[in-house]
Amino acid sequence: MTSKIRIGTVGLGLMGSSIATCILAAGHAVTSLIKEIDTADEARERILGYLRQLTQEGLLIDTPETIIERLTITDDVSLLSNHTVVIESITENIDEKKSLYQRLETVLSPTAIIGSNTSAIPVSVLQSGLKHPERLLGIHWAEPAHITRFMEVICGKDSDLTYAYEIVALAESWGKEPSLLKKDIRGFITNRIMYAMLRESFNLVENGYATIEDVDRSLRNDLGYWITFAGPFRFMDLTGIPAYLTVMKDLFPDLSNNTKSPKLMEDLVASGAKGYRMRRVFILTRPNRLKCGKRNSSTSAMTSGNSPKNIYPLPSKRPNDTHSIYKGHRSNCTG
Ligand SMILES: NC(=O)c1ccc[n+]([C@@H]2O[C@H](COP(=O)([O-])OP(=O)(O)OC[C@H]3O[C@@H](n4cnc5c(N)ncnc54)[C@H](O)[C@@H]3O)[C@@H](O)[C@H]2O)c1
Repeated sequence: MTSKIRIGTVGLGLMGSSIATCILAAGHAVTSLIKEIDTADEARERILGYLRQLTQEGLLIDTPETIIERLTITDDVSLLSNHTVVIESITENIDEKKSLYQRLETVLSPTAIIGSNTSAIPVSVLQSGLKHPERLLGIHWAEPAHITRFMEVICGKDSDLTYAYEIVALAESWGKEPSLLKKDIRGFITNRIMYAMLRESFNLVENGYATIEDVDRSLRNDLGYWITFAGPFRFMDLTGIPAYLTVMKDLFPDLSNNTKSPKLMEDLVASGAKGYRMRRVFILTRPNRLKCGKRNSSTSAMTSGNSPKNIYPLPSKRPNDTHSIYKGHRSNCTG
């Protein structure tokens, strides 16, 4: 497979835009299928903006204006007919994704690869009902896809491994460090591990062991220090293996295995919270602005008109007793 084939993408939302940027920056021409053609100009501007950022970082040889010329945005599925790789990044909805693949199959050759950027839908579920399920793979990116090195290539039960190897090679030419999952499993690698961590985080907060900010602070300063250079296995290699076995024997039975979503999360979402973008959050203080041990008045309590709103009221000082899940608090080091 040549590294400069024309690549198809579907969906130019948050992730689809950064995926298209990555592939354009790697030198390919890209055809992007979108649902609402009147959003094409906005998407093109967004991608141009990402390319300009890459230029500012000295990562592009061609100008953004030259590169964006290689992008075609369309709502006509037939324009994808000669593409041998099409990467879907539309809304995380099984029916919408499956209906799209059926449309793609009407125009693609039987050997064209379809990749899905699903976050957690099992690839085997997406394959069912396709004429050529063997060409459907999970191609899971991390946002922003034009900067991160992460990629998981996932085989469903019917996938042809040869296609997966082709995508791994192609992704390496885009500067990715792909991991290959030869067998399908819900959540793949990182989401399974991240959600196990989230479950335990909620367990600690909801049962009053630690505050939201304390959980964030601990993880940031412990796992955050080593996770960029070692995965969990290398980290055990580096820090001594037998102690981990001892701790596992005591700790595993004690960890949360709750199968219900946390009440705190349910309440927050029911309140309309969508994170910083929508100014409704777990934590009011912005990260990266405060130095440890020093309070910065401009960022310590963002309660002015345009600031994010915490669903939970802030007490005026850090409580000494076990912290209620319905309260946040300020801290010297932001979480
Ligand atoms: N946001 C992330 O950080 C992230 C990370 C990894 C994977 N993903 C996955 O990527 C996919 C997209 O997520 P997102 O965050 O970009 O969502 P988004 O809502 O920002 O974008 C989805 C886009 O898909 C478009 N769309 C919907 N149906 C379509 C169709 N039939 N044809 C063409 N376009 C269509 C919508 O118009 C929208 O622009 C999801 O499957 C999501 O789970 C997201």
